[in-house]
Amino acid sequence: MVDQLQRRRSTGLVWLFAAVLVAFATAISAAQPAPAAKSNGLAQTPPVGWSSWNQFGDDINEQLVIESIDAMVSNGMRDAGYVYVNLDDGWQRYKGKRSDHPLEFDPKKFPRGISYLADYAHQRGMKLGIYSGPGQTTCAGYTGSEGHEAEDAKMFASWGVDHLKYDSCCSHRDAPKDELQKIFRTMSNSLMAQKRGIVLHACHCGWGDIWEWAAALGVNHWRIGQDISDDFNYPGNREQYYFDVLDQLDRGVGLEKYSGPGHWNDYDMLIVGLNGKSGQLVGTGASNIEYRTHFSLWSMVNSPLLVGADVRKLDAYSLETLTNKEVLALNQDPAGNVAQKVRDDGDLEVFAKELEDGSHAVLLLNRGAATATMTFSPRADLQVPMDRYTVRDLWRHRSLGTYDIPFTAEVQSHEARVFRIRQLSTSVNGRSSLDGPEPESAQ
Ligand code: GAL
Repeated sequence: MVDQLQRRRSTGLVWLFAAVLVAFATAISAAQPAPAAKSNGLAQTPPVGWSSWNQFGDDINEQLVIESIDAMVSNGMRDAGYVYVNLDDGWQRYKGKRSDHPLEFDPKKFPRGISYLADYAHQRGMKLGIYSGPGQTTCAGYTGSEGHEAEDAKMFASWGVDHLKYDSCCSHRDAPKDELQKIFRTMSNSLMAQKRGIVLHACHCGWGDIWEWAAALGVNHWRIGQDISDDFNYPGNREQYYFDVLDQLDRGVGLEKYSGPGHWNDYDMLIVGLNGKSGQLVGTGASNIEYRTHFSLWSMVNSPLLVGADVRKLDAYSLETLTNKEVLALNQDPAGNVAQKVRDDGDLEVFAKELEDGSHAVLLLNRGAATATMTFSPRADLQVPMDRYTVRDLWRHRSLGTYDIPFTAEVQSHEARVFRIRQLSTSVNGRSSLDGPEPESAQ
């Protein structure tokens, strides 16, 4: 009996001890802060530049890159903010598995190596980007980085690279999140271990709701969908590979909150200037108005702006579109607010965001087939009691005057009109037409 009591008591003591231990461990882990979000401090505004893929595919070489840099310097793109020059897939020497080949640059395509190009870019105030992927091979079949992430990150840094597009080729669509996160965490940690800051782009087709977790791993931008097509109305449903401009736009609605300084939703590279002649993308091309709309939308939602066309041969209209500093400023605004869709009347949609100086950018989009008259009301659409405000048209580069009533604008089929509106304090005579003469007094 005494024995039994003794045993029960000691068993009780063991349980008590175990319970105290568990409680203690739980208290300690609850006191531990959640793993801190990693940040390399880069890409405080979305990266802006050029990428070789949309026009050239893997047919790239040193001469092309040098000529593209020179063109961007002389045509004003560099000065407008296009500083990234990004080599996409195809710079590597070998095709086939990494287990069978080292990762080296192709000495035939790049006789003076990648560091020569990085120096060439840096001397002109620009940056060089490179491409790899987490698999044994990349999407175009070149050797990937699997199992060699630390070594590759070190090599990219030693070459003076500033940006890495890390491309899963839309693989691992249904993989568990921790597996996906491991892929990008491994490369992110490897890059952060370098002295050189390297922007990390996770090209992953939006699988695994990447926007929810990539920023915490130190990823600077992530694709929210598959490849863009060179048009506005790519036929077919959205399960197919290519997303047209409007598909990409729709994909981003609801994801705005994940995007901000240092970590951006990426709507894919620009198609402006491809004019249906892309070597890579499907689509028969878009009209001038549509390309401008696409550029306006990407600026409003703070997508990275990576031109996919041949910058050595841009037509005047495309160049003017890409270097509209007033629209680019919306993309590069330091506040980093992403435009929200504030009104959706079927084919007529309104997007808006607040800028750092307190003014607002407003975009009126007509997705329909016929010209429409659209109205914008700061009070109704922004929920801001803005009784008196100025309006500036950012494509016509005109201040349109002062308003104390909603303003209206004619918007052509597939056009986006973009305005910057600024609140004033007291009421003046209202103006209702955007297209009337501009009163001097309203400036
Ligand atoms: C795709 C990617 C393209 C391009 C290509 C290279 O997966 O979406 O932007 O990088 O791979 O092979």
